Amino acid sequence: MNKIRITDKMMKNFDYHTPTRLVFGRGVVEKLPEVMKPLGKRVLLTYGGGSIRRIGLYSRVKELMRDFELFELGGIEPNPKYAGSVLDGVRLCKKERIDSILAVGGGSVLDCSKAIAAGAKYDGETWDLIVGRAPTKAALPIVDIMTLAATGSEYDCGGVISRTETNDKVAYVSPFLFPVCSFLDPTYTFSVNSRHTAAGVADAVNHVMEQFFTEPSNSVSDGFCAALVKTLMKYAPVAIAQPENYEARAEIMYACTFGCNGILGLGTGGSVWPMHAIEHALSAYYDISHGEGLAIITPHWMRHVLCERTLPRFVSFGINALGISPDFPAREIADRAIAEMAAFFKKIGAPMSLREVGIDGSRLGEMARRIAAGGCLDAPGLFAPLGERDILAILRAAL
Ligand code: NZQ
Ligand code: ZN
Repeated sequence: MNKIRITDKMMKNFDYHTPTRLVFGRGVVEKLPEVMKPLGKRVLLTYGGGSIRRIGLYSRVKELMRDFELFELGGIEPNPKYAGSVLDGVRLCKKERIDSILAVGGGSVLDCSKAIAAGAKYDGETWDLIVGRAPTKAALPIVDIMTLAATGSEYDCGGVISRTETNDKVAYVSPFLFPVCSFLDPTYTFSVNSRHTAAGVADAVNHVMEQFFTEPSNSVSDGFCAALVKTLMKYAPVAIAQPENYEARAEIMYACTFGCNGILGLGTGGSVWPMHAIEHALSAYYDISHGEGLAIITPHWMRHVLCERTLPRFVSFGINALGISPDFPAREIADRAIAEMAAFFKKIGAPMSLREVGIDGSRLGEMARRIAAGGCLDAPGLFAPLGERDILAILRAAL
């Protein structure tokens, strides 16, 4: 038998498991009691600053959950904070012997709930779990009702927690953090204003790009990525112009859900998500919106890493995801791809510079140092390794 030579350029092995049940569409929340029943009677309902009350979801959830003992943790803030919501939630879960968590809101509410779910099952300091100083061995079961299409937290096992006093924003990942079930009713996103709709789409587009710009890739992954980018770019302006357009909200919600759970990167060379590493520092220091930070950084990262070696992926992205004609010379396709991404973010009203979101140049050096020290952005073999000087150059260009 001929020996098969597997090279680094070929599709990588993978082992993929996403245990979350997705229930999608108008009115699906009616199934909530059926899903919650096996998870226990004592439920912690978590939510944000009031949007779920304004859209009538809070009262509907209370009605549907009338046979359960409900405890509440409201007021979870965007970029959820460890010292506030996370610790309050952990204390509440332990004191009230909570069986499960029902998170209703955007990615911040769900991420916070994931950290609470793990902290509730741990006797030490929850922060040790978040930063990986202690292994996560269990978590309370989580069910969510998403009201904002963006992060994909509803279909992944990660959460991002901020610690303002130390300028930390840490991505916390564990297989125990997959939601048991996510309810995705696009009508709950009708009330999301244009600013957060744009930020959510910018986040999801960037999730796709983080996974697309890698080597090797494969035709299936590239196809998934192109489909998601096209969908998000087509429907974002529609949802902004017509917030109650069901088709647009549904397409965006579906696309966002698949952005972050790893399916787009199966068999590829993988990525360390460099734009996310940079943005997380921006929101750790300045508490800005994650999606807006990404909209600002993305074109500058693209410009910075474009070179002869990375050019073929830019060409593939330009042709397959953005529909640029293959008849142009390769370098022109790449330049057009960068210009199109910047134009798209501008068109949907996202900020285009750090100054627009209140960030001046005074702490760029400190942030670049911190980002370089914190990640493995310059590890050998990466698609486009970034050292401290590269990171600083990207931040300066984005100013
Ligand atoms: O607090 P409320 O009143 O609910 O208002 C929120 C908030 O002000 C509002 N909102 C949510 N649903 C709404 C609504 N307003 C009107 N109608 C509705 N139906 O939107 C604002 C932003 O909400 P937030 O949850 O902060 O936004 P998003 O979903 O974009 O989450 C951002 C957080 O997720 C992290 C980000 O870093 C950031 O902390 N991420 C989480 C990821 C994950 N778990 O996989 C991956 C991402 O890359 C990201 O890092
Ligand atoms: Zn993101």
